[in-house]
Amino acid sequence: MSENGQDKKSDFRYATGDAEVPWAAIGEHIWHEDLMGLVRLLVRERDGAEGFEAAMGRVEEVLEALCACGRPASKLSLGDTVKRLEEEVASFLGCRYACFITNATAGFQIGHQFADLGPDDEVILPAITFIATAAYPPLVGAKCVFADVDPRTMNMDPEDVARKVTDRTKVIMPVHIGGYPVEMDPIMEIAEERGIIVIEDAAHAFGGKYKGKMIGTVGHFGSFSFHEVKNITSFGEGGIVCTDTDFGEHFNQARFCGVDMSQQIENWLYDVVALPTTTGNPQMPGNHSSTEIQAACLLGQMGRLEEIIRIRRARAEYLNERLEGVPGLITPPLDSEGIESTFHLYLLQVEPEELGADIRVFKQRLTEKGVTNIPHFAPLYHFKIFEQLGYDTDAIAESCPNAEEAFWHRFTHLPLYPLAHEQVERMADLVIETAEEISGG
Ligand SMILES: Cc1ncc(COP(=O)(O)O)c(C=O)c1O
Repeated sequence: MSENGQDKKSDFRYATGDAEVPWAAIGEHIWHEDLMGLVRLLVRERDGAEGFEAAMGRVEEVLEALCACGRPASKLSLGDTVKRLEEEVASFLGCRYACFITNATAGFQIGHQFADLGPDDEVILPAITFIATAAYPPLVGAKCVFADVDPRTMNMDPEDVARKVTDRTKVIMPVHIGGYPVEMDPIMEIAEERGIIVIEDAAHAFGGKYKGKMIGTVGHFGSFSFHEVKNITSFGEGGIVCTDTDFGEHFNQARFCGVDMSQQIENWLYDVVALPTTTGNPQMPGNHSSTEIQAACLLGQMGRLEEIIRIRRARAEYLNERLEGVPGLITPPLDSEGIESTFHLYLLQVEPEELGADIRVFKQRLTEKGVTNIPHFAPLYHFKIFEQLGYDTDAIAESCPNAEEAFWHRFTHLPLYPLAHEQVERMADLVIETAEEISGG
């Protein structure tokens, strides 16, 4: 920018140079009281804890002193921290583009928009997942086609995808349930043969690997969740969408109503152009912007991701060791050559005939003994909304026998999140005790 800020390009980033009256692009400053509100939200008083208020008083004093001699943040949304996070994530994933957004669901939307998903198109997704996987297609009049699951992993079964693919299939969405990688090779083969876009729902799988490649980078797009229940979070909400395709050049636009804040503009005039798509049809993007505060949290958590996954893996290995061979119980597959789970969830299954009861009875007994009863994923077509949208849900259920059998009779998830080792031991004891009581073993 020139001395008077008139005749050079601006970078959108409020760099008004030494203009006497700068554009007040930053709104109200953050005061130390606001920071205290954040501290009080993030660190709550433990029942019966001593010294909490005194410690808070000291924090407040320090924050006040810090604010008096520090400078307020010059940017709270889409600033340098978001940029640094995206560079670190792209390097960690080994992909060309990563874009920090509001949540994984927004990343699915961005992928679908590049695929130009519209009325009468079909999207194949697994029967068992969270509803967010299916949120976008009905918004634009596209149809969700539910693929059955692999009974060993609860992930999308590529053979059923092959049976259900049609000329209208525009997108396939494999979901790495619990962080365990989907068998991607056959899905990519189908997609390549037919020019279908693959959007990986990697909501549970930041840091996992499939055949040595990071999960989320095998398909055309991958979208990760940093919601508070995931194994890594950005203060409760957040997502990353990544790609190796040239569409990544337009991620900034796709995130913020078509405006690319990283571009230079002339004389404060800017234009908005439609997103490019696989078909050439224009698409209008939404607003999925993320904050510097969320990015700072995620950068911090990324620094210990390896350790987070290591602890979860050790817990899953311990549970497998204890539960393997117990009549009526089936343990999940763990890591193998090139396959690395994030262990977001521990998948436990029962063999109803051997156990003498199905999962519902098992879960009920386990809850009575004090082990958290995790609500497990229902096949999406059982939700009322699909009937309301006119889907023949009985016919779909019939076409997904593994998902039906698993949901009603076989599978659940046990918690692996930061439990003390004694709690994991206790959980294993109670799972075994419950199985033995039911089977009379
Ligand atoms: C399998 C799956 N996909 C997608 C999502 C949505 O993630 P987000 O809340 O970041 O949009 C979730 C969230 O729990 C999920 O479990």
